[in-house]
This record gives sequence, C-alpha cells and structure tokens, in this order.
Amino acid sequence: MPLHRLTQIVMGVPNVEQTAAYYTDFGLSPAAPPDLGLATVDGGEQLRIVHSPRRRLVQLGIGADDPDDLDRVEGSLRAIDVPVTRTATGVRAVDPGTEVTVHVEIAGRYAPQPTPAPAYNAPGVDARTGQRAPGILRDGPVRPRRLGHVVLGSTDQELSQKFFTDGIGFKVSDRVPGLAAFMRCSTDHHNVLIQQAPIALLHHTAWQVDDVDEVGRGATAMLEKDPGRHVWGLGRHHVGSNFFWYLKDPAGNFSEYYSDLDCIVDDALWEPGVWEGARGLYNWGPPPPPSFLAPEDLAALMTAAHKPA
Ligand SMILES: [Fe+2]
Repeated sequence: MPLHRLTQIVMGVPNVEQTAAYYTDFGLSPAAPPDLGLATVDGGEQLRIVHSPRRRLVQLGIGADDPDDLDRVEGSLRAIDVPVTRTATGVRAVDPGTEVTVHVEIAGRYAPQPTPAPAYNAPGVDARTGQRAPGILRDGPVRPRRLGHVVLGSTDQELSQKFFTDGIGFKVSDRVPGLAAFMRCSTDHHNVLIQQAPIALLHHTAWQVDDVDEVGRGATAMLEKDPGRHVWGLGRHHVGSNFFWYLKDPAGNFSEYYSDLDCIVDDALWEPGVWEGARGLYNWGPPPPPSFLAPEDLAALMTAAHKPA
C-alpha cells in the first residue's frame, strides 16, 4: 500500500500548556526545542498542540512512499472536486465535514523494534514456569510506541468517507451502518474513523502500547495522578479486536491506550463486516459511559462554533 501510516497530528486546544502536560503524563516525550511537539517511541514527533478557541483536530498527516503516490492522491482529490495544494513533498486538502486539513507527505516507514508478546500460561500450556508475569515486574513509565488512529465527528459522514476513500485512498475495513466506517491507510485495521456528528469534532486519538499490561499500567498511572481522567476501560473492542482504555485530556479530547489491533496485510484475505448494536462498540468491558457517545462539552462546542468571529 503506497500510503503506509499516520505521521503527525496537530491538535488545537484553548489550554495548550495544560494539555501538553497531560500528554507528557500519558507517556509522550517533549521534542527538543525549538520544536514544540511530543514524540512517540517509534513515530518521532507525532503530536503538536496549538492554540484554538475550541478543541479540534487541525491537521492530520499521512505518510506516502514516493512522489507518484502524491500524484495519484492529487488526481483523485481533483476528480471529486476537492481543492488541493500541491508541493514537492506533499498534498494538502481540507475535508469540509470534519474541517480537518489532511496533509499527505513523503515519509519513512515505521521500523519498530520487534516486541514479542509475553508468554501466557493457559490450560495445558505452561508457557511461563517458575517466574512471575513480566507485566507485574515492569516499573518504568508506559511509553506509547506510535499514533494508531483518530476518530472524528463529521457534519457529513458520507462526504467525509468519500474524501478519505475516493480522494485520499483509504480502504474500508468494517462498517457500523448509520454510524461510522473504520478506514485504513496502512496494515492497521483502522487509522481513521468518521462518525456522523452535529459538529466537526475530535472524538479521540489512539496510541499503541506493547500489550494489555501496558494498557492497564498506563491508565493506572494516569488515574493515580487524577482519577477524573477516567472515561472507559479496560475492555476489548469487537471491531478491530484491540484492548482499550480511554482517558480524557484537560481540553476534553479522549485519548486511548490500545494494543493487539487487527492487522490487514493482504486485502484479499480480509472480509469487511457490518456490525450493529453493542458489537459496533465493544466485545467486553464495562458498559460505555454516555459521555463516550456524546461528549459532555458537545453543547458548548456547538455554541462556540456558531459564534460570529
Ligand atoms: Fe479507538
């Protein structure tokens, strides 16, 4: 696949310093000055936080292999009448439904240090004997390996989906009718999920960690500092299969630690599914809080969005 990953997101918030401090607690590393970004282990500077009167995703970066890929994206966007800005190293266009600027850019592929899953004991399989589980022996801070996906509210879900599939070149992995489509630009089950919403909105960003113990350890450390950050977890999604735990940043955006997401290497071997009801949300875990489906600041965001400049 010529598109191969998310590169960097630019998040706009009213409270930049507070929000940056939250993502530092979350395990991202402040980039060296003069850069203001925050870095993951495998993806480098993947989060930039800038000032915005209301919280929103300002820009989404997508990595492509070479200039031919940019030519194709430019042509596909123009074919569906989306205005495009082209440079030698990138293509930029705005999705009107989510109000996000998408920047497709030439970028190197991930080269993660392979991290084998720990040995788990199971009935008839004594994979770990005479030792305690590695997950309880870890004591360092949890460090997200990379940015995995973003979930966006769109005022026109169908148009946004068309922008990402027909325009940028994403593929649909699974669908929840009337609600959302899970789309990928890499071997991840999903990198972008668009939901119909009354306002353009950043619902959550998701950050890959090594395994379920890191999901639990990361969230536990965040809650030790501020229990009010808890949103939803621990659980396992049905669509995408990932373990998850969602927390809330000081601007109101949700951030997810995840591990063990489905991986689609061969398109021919993946059958996109249609999921209804609770399965569209999760397989097991506590029930999702109402604020996960409709963020508590939705009304305030709508008022702010419709205020004259
Ligand atoms: Fe997610």
